[in-house]
Amino acid sequence: MQKPLHIGPYRLSSNILLAPMAGLTDRPYRDICRSFGAGLTTAEMIASDVSLWKSKKSSTRLISADEAEPRCAQIVGTDPYTMAEAARRCADQGVQILDINMGCPAKKICSKAAGSALMQYPKRVEAILASIITAVDLPITLKIRTGWANKNKNALEIAHIAEESGIAALSIHGRSREEGFMGHAEYETIRAVKRQAHIPIIANGDIMTMQDAAFILKYTQVDGLLLGRITKGRPWIFEEINHYLNTNKVKAPLPRAKQINAAIEHVSTIHRHYNPALRMAVARKHLACYLNTMSTQHTVNKEILKNIFIAKTPSEQLEKFSQALEDLPPISQKPATQ
Ligand SMILES: Cc1cc2nc3c(=O)[nH]c(=O)nc-3n(C[C@H](O)[C@H](O)[C@H](O)COP(=O)(O)O)c2cc1C
Repeated sequence: MQKPLHIGPYRLSSNILLAPMAGLTDRPYRDICRSFGAGLTTAEMIASDVSLWKSKKSSTRLISADEAEPRCAQIVGTDPYTMAEAARRCADQGVQILDINMGCPAKKICSKAAGSALMQYPKRVEAILASIITAVDLPITLKIRTGWANKNKNALEIAHIAEESGIAALSIHGRSREEGFMGHAEYETIRAVKRQAHIPIIANGDIMTMQDAAFILKYTQVDGLLLGRITKGRPWIFEEINHYLNTNKVKAPLPRAKQINAAIEHVSTIHRHYNPALRMAVARKHLACYLNTMSTQHTVNKEILKNIFIAKTPSEQLEKFSQALEDLPPISQKPATQ
């Protein structure tokens, strides 16, 4: 049975949460993951420089007040004052939990001493957290890696700072910045952090199956898990993992017809959510993921994708996508969810 996970005043409906993923976890994605049981979703990361929020890209990333509660957003930055201002603006816009990104490995972020680069500067981390926590009356969460470099995995030190600063929950991706996305995530560091912590700790990295989820929860004793890439084209994985954790039984795979309905509904929502210049391109990313997930060959035939990608209107795209889904060979559950 899952232990209840609280972040600030919010008791989450599940301790299996959607990891923030820039370019993916937009509103339609968050909504579909919630509908399958994600306990929390986080909006795509936004820069802490609020003057950039008017750009087309950032404006589609802002949270809206009609989203399911608790509404969580993530900011990235390096300057304590700028980040505090961003936090205030988030609070004004209805954000209820604010996550600080100190895990991003991307060069363009780290070169500005933001994201995971901040793990090299514990004093700066302390200053940023103090500044944000003083600025707003929201639960503030922090997302980190195991460290900047393999030789100095200082997640324990940063976790201690986070806790002392008043952070409401800490999530840890089990890789250092040096590792990027290479190799396999490790959970020893996360386990060590959990042992010393008095705040909720959330583990992340390479959780691909319900058995992975159960093992990592048991091994690290953490309070929750963040699922990232495995959810692409497979939002129903939340339902499968929740069921397994709560009953210790494997849930029968979601029937193909229901998978198809969910995929079509998701793509239709993307068409409605984005402006005409963006909607078909955003939909392409997701529909390719659904086809890959549902294809028995793991990677869907390129010709099928090409045929959908040349669609000229959203309705043509949706029609071709629906046809491709109907034409797939019968379901055979992939090892990833068994
Ligand atoms: C495309 C993509 C975008 C991501 N964007 C963010 C982000 O904006 N903020 C963040 O904290 N982590 C981001 N991440 C990292 C994920 O939240 C997560 O830590 C990582 O993917 C490991 O988890 P997984 O193995 O379950 O995918 C991103 C990952 C991917 C693949």
